[in-house]
Amino acid sequence: MDEKKTTITDIKNAKGTEKPLVCLTAYTDPIATLIDPHCDLILVGDSLGMVFYGLPSTEDVTLEMMIAHGMAVTCKPRNSVVIVDMPCGSYEDDKDKALSNAQKLMTQTKCDGVKLEGGKDMAPIIAHLVENSIPVMGHIGLMPQSANKTGGYKVKGKTEEGAERLLSDAKAIENAGAFALVIEATMEETSQKITQSISIPTIGIGASATCDGQVLVTEDMLGMLTGHTPKFVKKYADLADEISGAVEDYAKDVRSRKFPSSQYLYGATK
Ligand code: KIV
Repeated sequence: MDEKKTTITDIKNAKGTEKPLVCLTAYTDPIATLIDPHCDLILVGDSLGMVFYGLPSTEDVTLEMMIAHGMAVTCKPRNSVVIVDMPCGSYEDDKDKALSNAQKLMTQTKCDGVKLEGGKDMAPIIAHLVENSIPVMGHIGLMPQSANKTGGYKVKGKTEEGAERLLSDAKAIENAGAFALVIEATMEETSQKITQSISIPTIGIGASATCDGQVLVTEDMLGMLTGHTPKFVKKYADLADEISGAVEDYAKDVRSRKFPSSQYLYGATK
């Protein structure tokens, strides 16, 4: 880490500037260490349920899992602002429970803020956390925690009515005091209108370059995952191929006793 730690104020001040915000996910120390020099924000996303644990959705991710991975990411000082997702069931129905869980995440992981999913309905919860000094990032559009109950993993804001709903959700979250807003899987016109209508930075994922910043799941953009790739993911590497090639070579070497060769051996005892 060099001298300058990015702050929540820096993120807010990036709104409308010529420098879009760079955000990626990390669940572990090695990945956080590799991405930190290039990012403004690191998100310990609850996508870890599917990406890291192989669960079918993010619904079964627990607060304990988020704390453990948040701690792994913050185990070293980071330049980037580190945000940890509040998992499904930890905040939606009770503002005191939401506050107590957000405080646990903040104190145990020493992260800079939390993210939670939801529109207008979640504004009172966000306001309560912000009033109690918890920096909150909102998340609207496709919301994976409730996708199975709301018609699946589909693009949002496609109709005029849907786009209007997203815009009023965004305004409610801004008014509740969130410092930034993730918009997932929407039409370009919709994200552009939202971005132009609110004073906090929008971070897009499948929401076009009109947003104030972008986020991707790191394992997706590194091409590490073998399942379905969403349309909005650009693969900047093909690590799945690299990894299986390397493991194939290792297995061949072990089976032919080529590995370990002399350079990997300790000296003989006297
Ligand atoms: O959980 C996650 O990784 C996220 C991002 C993809 C926005 O919420």
